[in-house]
Amino acid sequence: MSEQSSNGQAIEVAAADSELYQPSPEAVANAVAPNYLQLRGEALADIEAYWDARAREMIDWFEPYEKVLDDSGAPFYKWFVGGKTNIAYNALDRHVNSWRRHKLALIFEGEEGDKQNYSYYQLWQEVNKFANVLKGKGVGKGDTVTIYMGRTPELMIAMLAVTKIGAVHSVVYGGFSEQALASRIDDAQSRVLITSDGAWLRGKTVNLKDISDEAVKRSSIVDTVIVYQRTMQDVQMTPGRDHWWHEEMALPIASPICEPEPMDAEDPLFILYTSGTTGRPKGVLHTCGGYQVYTATTLKYVFDLKEDDLWWCAADPGWITGHSYIVYAPLILGSTGFMYEGAPDYPHPNRYWKLVEDYGITILYTAPTAIRGLMRFGDAWAEQHDLSSLRLLGSVGEPINPEAWRWYHRVIGRENCPIMDTWWQTETGGFMITPTPVVALKPGSATLPFTGIEADVVREDGSTCEPNEDGYLVVKRPWPGMARTVWGDPDRYVEQYWSEFAQQGWYFTGDSARRDDDGYFWIIGRMDDVIKVSGYRLGTAEIESALVSHPDVAEAACVGIPHELRGNVIHAFCILNDGVSGSSDLVDALKLHVRHEVGPIAVPSELSIVDGLPKTRSGKIMRRLLKAQVQGLPIGDVSTLAD
Ligand code: WTA
Repeated sequence: MSEQSSNGQAIEVAAADSELYQPSPEAVANAVAPNYLQLRGEALADIEAYWDARAREMIDWFEPYEKVLDDSGAPFYKWFVGGKTNIAYNALDRHVNSWRRHKLALIFEGEEGDKQNYSYYQLWQEVNKFANVLKGKGVGKGDTVTIYMGRTPELMIAMLAVTKIGAVHSVVYGGFSEQALASRIDDAQSRVLITSDGAWLRGKTVNLKDISDEAVKRSSIVDTVIVYQRTMQDVQMTPGRDHWWHEEMALPIASPICEPEPMDAEDPLFILYTSGTTGRPKGVLHTCGGYQVYTATTLKYVFDLKEDDLWWCAADPGWITGHSYIVYAPLILGSTGFMYEGAPDYPHPNRYWKLVEDYGITILYTAPTAIRGLMRFGDAWAEQHDLSSLRLLGSVGEPINPEAWRWYHRVIGRENCPIMDTWWQTETGGFMITPTPVVALKPGSATLPFTGIEADVVREDGSTCEPNEDGYLVVKRPWPGMARTVWGDPDRYVEQYWSEFAQQGWYFTGDSARRDDDGYFWIIGRMDDVIKVSGYRLGTAEIESALVSHPDVAEAACVGIPHELRGNVIHAFCILNDGVSGSSDLVDALKLHVRHEVGPIAVPSELSIVDGLPKTRSGKIMRRLLKAQVQGLPIGDVSTLAD
């Protein structure tokens, strides 16, 4: 059964309450935090005491903090005030100085089957060497470095090297194109760009260096490009500006010793651009102290990470999921992570399941879109593999429909693996609403807020919704992993997240949700102009500004339309300039234009040429009407429509 949510998204109605998956007694007995439900109450009773204890438990501090939380400048909260630390130190150095020195930190398999392993010691050496290369290029504390690479260990090495020397990385996902990359480089003002010649995807190469060259042409600030050689394809190297990674790493400057830069807890750690309500990318800033504490705590409790686990987060390091749960938290916890370069169905739809079997993966964390994509090939592809090493599964990025949940549970988890459906955002740094292995599960529900998190579903006036009533999803108290600002634009930070419920001082997530009679949260979807396509977060405004940058387009509007496999797809509407007539060639050209300007992930699946767009009297495009029209739904209240 399905119904329409407030933002028009089709969702499957809450699985029957009777469909409750209780944790097994063994899982509870062996859990990292068997008393998790009790801890939730304790943490909320005193969030400062709770996070103080986690900050001491999870990471090392060079100098202790004086205060856990400073809320005097709210909503610009500060955590662990005065503490000094370094995330790369906590991720690597301290393990190298322990019995974990030769433990595997990372196991990698390329799309073509090539394999690489790194012990903590080896990863630490590579990071130190590259950190020294960066220093040699003049990169220092507080400088921003843009990274645009495929999913290989070197991306991780680059990120850790940047943070080790106190610089600030801005990783741009490899699925974005030249204009998206250029505007992110400009906004972050990075002088240095780290890229690869190319990346492997479905047996073909993505020309990352060519795209980088175009981006650098459009933004005047880059003077140094470091190029990791992955695909060996032909690329243009600009003398003086471009340097090969392997050549730099062979120079005497690339010494394997590099001391970590002591960072203040509130110094910038990284910027990650994400989509919001305007065309300009929004650089979400995370800082050095709270982010570490929050990501490590959440990973340890939710995925119950133990010393002998093999953890596979199948996201891309270019998105927050990869930042937090491929790169930083697993290393901080001293675990062994697995990374795979390519597509889930390459060369066959059993690639993921074969990897689980070949390596003995114990925990798999992926997205509903990947699960649905693999589910459609049938059970046999999974059944041919021994998946008995798995003990926990995870889901992230969009609501998981109960049907996909049940398939994941039955066919992949053999009804033995609880599914951690984690709701969170780029802005939250880590999991916010999520089960742990001791929480009873309902397919499609992200269950309960994490320890120390006070979330609620409220009406426009701030009053709490009744059970099963849709409302705004808000977070009522600060947490260490929260974003600190929008890079270079603090007003936008306040406006975007803290203005909807300014009076109450609550964080507005941009999502709608409801809670059932048991207090379980059911996420419905975005209430703003953000669209989740295959789990990727895109802004309508970014795609619309790409369309209007085409000489033939006068005006454009985009909406997300629910799609069985991809969650949503984009439908674009364009008004053409006077004298231009629409044709299927033009539609193709416009799609290609979006591919160049934003990236392949943003290409509309449908593009309609129209004479007009429905607008309010104040001139705002009423996307709700466009959406209803495409889906053949009633258009509802049109009293604000101009004509
Ligand atoms: C959506 C990804 C339902 C949500 C970590 C949120 C989810 C947006 C879930 C953030 C989930 C993420 N269930 N919806 N488990 N996880 N979302 O910044 O709409 O790429 O606001 O962060 O993804 O996307 P972002």
